[in-house]
Amino acid sequence: MALIKPHGSDKLNPLFVYDTAENEALQKEAESLASIVVSSATAANAVMLGGGYFNPLTGYMNKADALYVATDMKTTSGLFWPTPVLNLVKAAGAIKAGDRIALKDPNVEGHPVLAVMDVKAVEEFSDAEMALMSEKVYRPKPPEVHPGVEAFNAQGKVCLSGPIKVLNFSYFQNEFPDTFRTAVEIRNEITERGWKKVVAFQTRNPMHLAHEELCHMAMKRLGCDGLVIHMLLGKLKKGDIPAPVRDAAIRKMVELYFPKNSAMITGYGFDMLYAGPREGVLHAIFRQNMGATHFIVGRDHAGVGDHYGAFDAQKIFDDEVPAGALKIEIFKADHTAYSKKLDRVVMMCEAPDHKKEDFVLLSGTKVREMLGKGIAPPKEFSRPEVAEILIRYYQSLEK
Ligand code: ADX
Repeated sequence: MALIKPHGSDKLNPLFVYDTAENEALQKEAESLASIVVSSATAANAVMLGGGYFNPLTGYMNKADALYVATDMKTTSGLFWPTPVLNLVKAAGAIKAGDRIALKDPNVEGHPVLAVMDVKAVEEFSDAEMALMSEKVYRPKPPEVHPGVEAFNAQGKVCLSGPIKVLNFSYFQNEFPDTFRTAVEIRNEITERGWKKVVAFQTRNPMHLAHEELCHMAMKRLGCDGLVIHMLLGKLKKGDIPAPVRDAAIRKMVELYFPKNSAMITGYGFDMLYAGPREGVLHAIFRQNMGATHFIVGRDHAGVGDHYGAFDAQKIFDDEVPAGALKIEIFKADHTAYSKKLDRVVMMCEAPDHKKEDFVLLSGTKVREMLGKGIAPPKEFSRPEVAEILIRYYQSLEK
């Protein structure tokens, strides 16, 4: 049986130039092109487009598409899409429509060329349009500062749109050789494993017992052949655990607590948007593109601070995503936590007789404080082997 279809097309069209000769020729050509060092978000968009995750987009959106996507979750041609995919700069300089330019990587020493772009339009967003996109996509709750909105606005208001060809995968392949995968690679691996029903788990954090059990529950209830743990490997806000530490912790957890060959440990090269519901929808699209049939959306998915309600990222699929827009199915999970009464992790809604104190609940701040002091959280919260890796990390920060 064929895998689930990608979003918006029958076949996945990654924008990475796989043909070595063509890739080399483009690199050579790029040396003589006008170039810009792009923002980290723009570079991350290129990596996602290159790997097929943003199928069927062919490059960066123009102003009309970005605004339409922000307000209506579709492009002007009617493609369902939840977040603008932009190349924003502070000033275009001499770059004009019709130019072919080289996009240089801000995140790799020496700023090598990441992609070649055919500029179709150079447009500027007004302050009001920037504010509208922030409002619709990030849904911030002022006065609390929203890190995603800050990063979005810091890029500039000038929008370079047009198709791109991607020449490499930035720092992700070198820094995460075992974990970074393109959507093409994950599709291939799912096919090789013969998995038919596949559930994907998004994460930017190490996985504690509640996350591990959430994955087990989803696999069991959906009757899945396998799980793809798919972690974000790009930029995070200050205070979040860096990807290498999280990667090590997740690897240890899977090695010890998952049946052999039941879980793939993978990651993607994208900067966290912290856009809650809208990012949840984007997450679902790129999990469909990588071949997952189901996607877990739990509590405060892609959230930050108090900007979103705990289940806003689930509600958007019911209230705002048109029927049939996505082929992937969403596994909506309630808050999972260890029940002292039942001696196992449960979804809270499935233990209606419980009071708050019947669960082992620890705030993120409390957990960080414990780990920083070298204290492992209780085994009902964290696997000791996972806690050990996190303690090592937090203690290295103290030095
Ligand atoms: S996220 O920004 O990548 O969503 P995180 O890594 O914390 O953050 O969460 C990964 C996934 O697990 C998300 O789907 C989130 O909703 C879910 N999740 C995290 N903690 C819980 C919990 N205690 N109960 C239910 N779902 C959870």
